[in-house]
Amino acid sequence: GPIVVDSVAALRAQIRDWRQDGQTIAMVPTMGALHDGHISLIRIALEKAERCVVSIFVNPTQFAPTEDLDKYPRQLVRDLDRLREAGAHLAFTPGVTEMYPAGFATKISVGGPSSGLETDFRPTFFDGVATVVTKLFLQAAPDCAVFGEKDYQQLCVVRQLCRDLDLPVEIIGAPTVRDPHGLAMSSRNAYLSEVELGVARNLNLVLRQTAAKLASGGDEASAVGEAAEALVRAGFRKVDYVAAREAVTLGPRRQDRGGRLLAAVWLGTTRLIDNIEISPA
Ligand code: PAJ
Repeated sequence: GPIVVDSVAALRAQIRDWRQDGQTIAMVPTMGALHDGHISLIRIALEKAERCVVSIFVNPTQFAPTEDLDKYPRQLVRDLDRLREAGAHLAFTPGVTEMYPAGFATKISVGGPSSGLETDFRPTFFDGVATVVTKLFLQAAPDCAVFGEKDYQQLCVVRQLCRDLDLPVEIIGAPTVRDPHGLAMSSRNAYLSEVELGVARNLNLVLRQTAAKLASGGDEASAVGEAAEALVRAGFRKVDYVAAREAVTLGPRRQDRGGRLLAAVWLGTTRLIDNIEISPA
């Protein structure tokens, strides 16, 4: 199975050994509760580099006080089993004080693609993500890192972060892994009841229908408005946003171009996000 380390010093020592042998390193940052989406990232990492480092850290700085930090699923034994099956070489499992010792006082704040969408509803989320991803990259110094398109805005923010800070890490985007009904795999799906799971599967369906309308030149405001109505009709309690954006900057999209359609919705007390490509005309 994978080498398991929970200190930055032990992580660096192992990475140094691999570097001395001339080996390349790919990183997959996660918050654990690993599912097939995470495993697909590890597979891509193993194709890209000789060694695959997976971090498992439920990062408190990206949760608001009202969010699910305490009930976020934690299942390290099962996760290590999945990493062994997947062939990951190292699991980095730091505790909160290893990452944020008493007196920690720095944050990384990325502009550009972090504005709007998630940030309208989770204003400090990307600061938390950017801070922990910067730390992980400086701790492990990987050649590349794999992030899922499932969290599309996060992927854009991480790309912006690396570009702006000259972090020498190649960011690889990985396609979203879905269940047979189109529901994007997510650790938070574990919160859903059977009935809610049935409703949840409509999210991708509505996004696909809407992206098809947009790709064939449909009016953006009406397509997006109809999508929000369809989601409420399907049983979602609340729609935080449905929005069509330019695919890299996440700024406004020209209606005659491709782009990305992104959404966040609530099912009971569970918040789900998903997104899909809008094909160029
Ligand atoms: P987490 O939600 O555990 O996700 C870890 C990685 O798995 C992210 O890059 C995410 O996009 C990817 N992922 C999740 N579900 C996926 C799916 N169904 N298909 C493909 N990839 C999927 O995202 C985070 O953790 C954190 O914000 C983190 C980047 C680790 C920083 O704390």
